[in-house]
Amino acid sequence: IIDKENLENAFLKLKKEKNAVLMAHFYQESNIQDIADFVGDSLALAQFAAKTDADIIMVAGVHFMGESAKILSPQKTVIVPDLNAGCSLADSCPPLEFKKFIDQYPDHKVITYVNTSAEIKALSDMVVTSTNAKAIVDSFSPDEKLIFGPDKNLGNYINSITGREMVLWDGACHVHEKFSLEKILELKKENPDAEIIAHPECKKPLLMVADHVGSTASLLKYTYTSDKKTFIVATESGIIHQMKLKSPKKLFIPAPPNDSTCACNDCEFMRLNTMEKIYNALKHEWPSIEVPEEVRVQAVKPIEKMLKLSA
Ligand code: 13P
Ligand code: SF4
Repeated sequence: IIDKENLENAFLKLKKEKNAVLMAHFYQESNIQDIADFVGDSLALAQFAAKTDADIIMVAGVHFMGESAKILSPQKTVIVPDLNAGCSLADSCPPLEFKKFIDQYPDHKVITYVNTSAEIKALSDMVVTSTNAKAIVDSFSPDEKLIFGPDKNLGNYINSITGREMVLWDGACHVHEKFSLEKILELKKENPDAEIIAHPECKKPLLMVADHVGSTASLLKYTYTSDKKTFIVATESGIIHQMKLKSPKKLFIPAPPNDSTCACNDCEFMRLNTMEKIYNALKHEWPSIEVPEEVRVQAVKPIEKMLKLSA
């Protein structure tokens, strides 16, 4: 058994020897965020993966994030700590069914959220993240007909702020749909000065009472630029680590879920990653992400378009 400090030191040594980088999503455990070379939202991780000159990219996040890195940097080895770290939102959009769905709208452009498999990206004209979704949807001419998938909550939200009527795929993230509006409003009554901040993957009634809606990066920025002192945070609780680092004197209350047996809203896929798994995965360079070349060449096009529009 190796203690935490030794494990982290061994990992840092190995990382240097192998010219590897560790990038982590904001939903990772605090210790993983603290040791990572880069921590960010889905867009920032894709931008980082596209630019790094490391030989190995370790992705502490979920499978689609590793896939995006591999699609953008096929010559690099991309490693994830646990292949079971999937995403309920990506799983809510199987490629064969999605293909049948989009075939019903041959005159529509297909925009997909980055939380999808490589096969779905290969069927898309454009990929977006929650950071750039509004700007990218706005970049399409108003008479262009659009399909948006897989997240219906984000799609509905983007429709409401852009005035578009994109056709939506019926998918969702189980973590963001779990928040209890009733309990959040009770919390707001107890803390009248608190602001409710929510990720657009949350359901519409919650987004309607939120003081700020945005991606993880946007929520984080809002907390350290606002003069408010208390925030009810309606997204995965891992982000609170960065919020506290940026604003140690402010109070962050994780939004409570409907299910009272569960204390907070953690994404069990994100939380499959541990420091032990990260160390072992780098040591054995396994499990690595592979994307069939015929899928990759199609999937890279909408991701590169997105990165160009987000530069
Ligand atoms: P962002 O970090 O891009 O806001 O995405 C949230 C999410 O659910 C990632 O899986
Ligand atoms: Fe997927 Fe939801 Fe987990 Fe994000 S929080 S990785 S959308 S299941």
